[in-house]
Amino acid sequence: MADVRGIDGVRVRASGKINLALRVGPRRSDGYHPLATVFQSVSVYDDLEVRPAPPGEFPVTVTGAQADLVPTDGRNLVVKAGRLLAEAYGSPDAGAAIAIRKSIPVTGGMAGGSADCAAALVALSVLWDLDVTQSELLDLGKQLGADVPFSLMGQTAYGIGRGDDLVPVLSRGSYHWVLAFADFELSTPAVFARFDELNPDPSPALGVPTGMLETLASGDATALAGVLVNDLQPAALSLRPELSKTMAEGMDAGALASMVSGSGPTIAFLASSEEAAIDLSFRLSAADVCRTVRRVSGPVQGAKLVA
Ligand code: C5P
Repeated sequence: MADVRGIDGVRVRASGKINLALRVGPRRSDGYHPLATVFQSVSVYDDLEVRPAPPGEFPVTVTGAQADLVPTDGRNLVVKAGRLLAEAYGSPDAGAAIAIRKSIPVTGGMAGGSADCAAALVALSVLWDLDVTQSELLDLGKQLGADVPFSLMGQTAYGIGRGDDLVPVLSRGSYHWVLAFADFELSTPAVFARFDELNPDPSPALGVPTGMLETLASGDATALAGVLVNDLQPAALSLRPELSKTMAEGMDAGALASMVSGSGPTIAFLASSEEAAIDLSFRLSAADVCRTVRRVSGPVQGAKLVA
């Protein structure tokens, strides 16, 4: 294992995600909602580096975009990941210093915290030289958060249950997206609570839109634009109506489709080509309707060791 650890530590890169379909059912007794969702990982990344630290200590540093919004104590999922991994794999007094460099928006509906958590699971299992399989990491990930298994897996996947029972989906080619990062956060539990208010009797029969899986296999962006769906979008827009303006600006600027990413407030615009995405990102930046505009593509890999 020493060959991948480098001299100072272990580095892992993890991507953000968008939901191409997000269908939500009635709240369960455990507070979670049953989902039928199609995730796609996209090329906005957080980088995480772990180094040895005294037993039981997990000092965390965060740099990059919105670093000041990220807790560095035991509330951070990377610390919870470290404690759970240490407990589960027989080195309960292990510790590690964890440095996170953020680009994925914080509380932005792109599973940034889950990406960091997935990266921590992978990095620490290498740093501590643990005999842990990918499927065991997926099980630990489930215990830490509903989006963590997908952050480990990446690419395109169909998720049911809390969104954490996953099967990979064939996706041909690459899709070009423009992301509008908001200058405010939206709490995921608050968006699900508004969903409950807006949908007192949601259908328990969930499924992704007819044709979505066939469309992904064909790689046709225009067809994909026609089947994108997010049941949380009305809830996010009702909490933050200004997001409708951002969505309208992107459509005026030539997007094939616009949607709230997960629970928001990030807005994802689908473009017909890389050139169209470049044009869209310039026009959206000029419209001044969000904090930052980022051009990304997907699908990309899940949490991966970096040389
Ligand atoms: O699992 P995680 O901590 O990422 O979920 C954050 C919150 O999002 C949950 O506490 C819950 O309020 C909401 N959630 C939900 N149904 C899901 C996933 C998340 O209600 N399937």
